[in-house]
Amino acid sequence: MYCIRYISRLGLTSCTGLRSIASLSALPETHQILQKTCRNFADSQLFPIAAKIDREHYYPAKELAKLGNLGLMSIVLSEKYGGSGLDYLAYAIAMEEISRGSASVGVTMSIHNSLYLGVLEKYGTEEQKQTFIPGYIDGKQIGCFALSEPGNGSDAGAASTTATLKGDYWVLNGTKCWISGGYEAGTGIVFATTDKKLKHNGISAFIVPMNSPGLSRGKKEEKLGIRGTSTCQLIFEDCEIPRENLLGKEGYGFKIAMQSLDAGRIGVAGQALGIAQASLECAVNYAGKRKAFGQPISKFQAIQMKLADMSVKLESARLLTWRAAWLKDNSMPFTKEAAQAKLAASETATYCAHQCMQILGGMGYVSDMPAERYYREARITEIYEGTSEIQRLVIAGQILKEYGA
Ligand code: CAA
Repeated sequence: MYCIRYISRLGLTSCTGLRSIASLSALPETHQILQKTCRNFADSQLFPIAAKIDREHYYPAKELAKLGNLGLMSIVLSEKYGGSGLDYLAYAIAMEEISRGSASVGVTMSIHNSLYLGVLEKYGTEEQKQTFIPGYIDGKQIGCFALSEPGNGSDAGAASTTATLKGDYWVLNGTKCWISGGYEAGTGIVFATTDKKLKHNGISAFIVPMNSPGLSRGKKEEKLGIRGTSTCQLIFEDCEIPRENLLGKEGYGFKIAMQSLDAGRIGVAGQALGIAQASLECAVNYAGKRKAFGQPISKFQAIQMKLADMSVKLESARLLTWRAAWLKDNSMPFTKEAAQAKLAASETATYCAHQCMQILGGMGYVSDMPAERYYREARITEIYEGTSEIQRLVIAGQILKEYGA
């Protein structure tokens, strides 16, 4: 198995046109090797324990460290900071392959890469990068991202957690919720308002070590799926963090959150594609073996229609995802395209998992087969990092802007 870090040295060539990513075989060699490496890893190390992760709420620390060894826990971080230095197209491909093996592992990989390391690399000062990146590239420690609150999720600009400057410290008060990896993370990117009257323009971003005095974790949520990572509240009670932990400019936090989520949504799209691809493979495999009325059910057109529709949705969503990644890699606007990719991929994951269960019938409803897990895991991709409804708002907003309407 290749370490991804060496793959980047094979000479990373970003695709030069959308036509070049129209089929997997046309991907640059680096991305093809990456895809194969991730697929082998997922088949041999993740798929065999995916049911255990789900059933036992097992945090896959060992597997994340292996991902770290491969360079996947710092895939888009530049080599200067010890990362693999690959692009977002590589990230999208890796996210799909890893999530095809275990969507629980996928979510940790996604948040850590795009909503922790990616945010620090883009907005951090050199000193912040030197402090908060080095311990976070080998998969042994992860970061988290704390934006939502009990009173605001979709309306991210209405944050009510406060940050008050007192001498050399920011003092944080309030509660953040739905924090993926909240229990396991060593450091978080936390959003708080320094002036509520300014609404979104009063929000700032802070780097918060999770052992800061005054910071505690709420209960671990009982979830439908993605059970290999904790989801919890972070409670700030006069939590003091050093003044220099302000990330970016004061009052710029909402824009940092929005831009970071644009990138994060490519990761969630990749995760959703992995669930959809796994569902399609499970359905095809079962349909080829299961006999009814004297023949494999794959011979029936009713089943074939389902497989055809699954594959069309899946491949369309994959192209949208790769396009969003390609635009980001080429420094072009990608807000709309990332939202389109996440919307299409997450709804495709739900669709494919549903159809997979339908093809498997009773076997799809019991936990002997992975179909019911795919069905449960798919749902969150339509919710976190912006619901499908929010993606539609983002897309419509961008279209109206494009047409000057
Ligand atoms: N990039 C840069 N700037 C952006 C932007 C983007 N993608 N989107 C908005 N902005 C800017 C706007 O240009 C505007 O700037 P000005 O003040 O200079 O004019 C400002 O931000 C406010 O924009 P809007 O008026 O559009 O903001 P809004 O309050 O109407 O909200 C929204 C827009 C799209 C609904 C946004 O609130 C949103 O994305 N909500 C969903 C939040 C979300 O995804 N939460 C998930 C949290 S993470 C998670 O899921 C859990 C986890 O563990 C990771």
